[in-house]
Amino acid sequence: MSEKRLELHDGHYLGKGSKRICYRHPDDDLKCIKFDLNRRRRFTAEEVRHYNRYARKGIVFDVIAPYHGEVRTNSGTGYVFGLARDFNGEVSQSVSHYLKSCQDEALLDDLFAGMVHLKYYMISNGITLTLLEDHNMVYQRVDQSTGKVILIDGIGNNQFFPLADFLMFHARRVVRRKWFKFERNMMRVYKPRPPVFRRFMVLHEKTT
Ligand SMILES: Nc1ncnc2c1ncn2[C@@H]1O[C@H](COP(=O)(O)OP(=O)(O)O)[C@@H](O)[C@H]1O
Ligand SMILES: [Mg+2]
Repeated sequence: MSEKRLELHDGHYLGKGSKRICYRHPDDDLKCIKFDLNRRRRFTAEEVRHYNRYARKGIVFDVIAPYHGEVRTNSGTGYVFGLARDFNGEVSQSVSHYLKSCQDEALLDDLFAGMVHLKYYMISNGITLTLLEDHNMVYQRVDQSTGKVILIDGIGNNQFFPLADFLMFHARRVVRRKWFKFERNMMRVYKPRPPVFRRFMVLHEKTT
């Protein structure tokens, strides 16, 4: 952990989930800092344990926001992660933002290609999830018409017997099941939006 204490204020605020609050890094546009809302639960420390395990296996974090260690700040110790930005410099929007509002069929195709890539990446590397949700992925626009889907939250293993931490075969099964449930849930949520519903159906039928 670096010695310098970073000063965060409201202007750095990025977003909040059920477990954490997230700020922009004041000295680095490509990083963000997360804090557990319940400091005693140590939720992020558990996530970091999984990150470290994957890093030791040599897994490259190109479609998962990378972890960069701890920092001292005016609101305590925070955890630093990669922050995705679009080609125009804006912080990348969540996948759910695009699923709810995007009218551009070509962009939706590219976004779903990104989700297929993330799915296969997670299956082939056996990267397990606690829960997969569309607001925990961002679509990073690399240029006007193409982008990448990046996972920002959800890495972990909430199986009762975490065999998946040790056995690749079991890990892959867990990942496939999480995606299967996510796709089914998304088909229910986006039933009133046929362009999105249809694409989830295609994703659901793709197996590896
Ligand atoms: N890497 C990131 N890039 C952009 N925004 C992020 C990033 N990480 C977190 N956020 C924002 O902060 C919110 C909370 O972070 P998240 O890790 O999802 O916390 P929780 O575990 O509580 O769901 C996200 O929903 C998002 O709005
Ligand atoms: Mg979240």
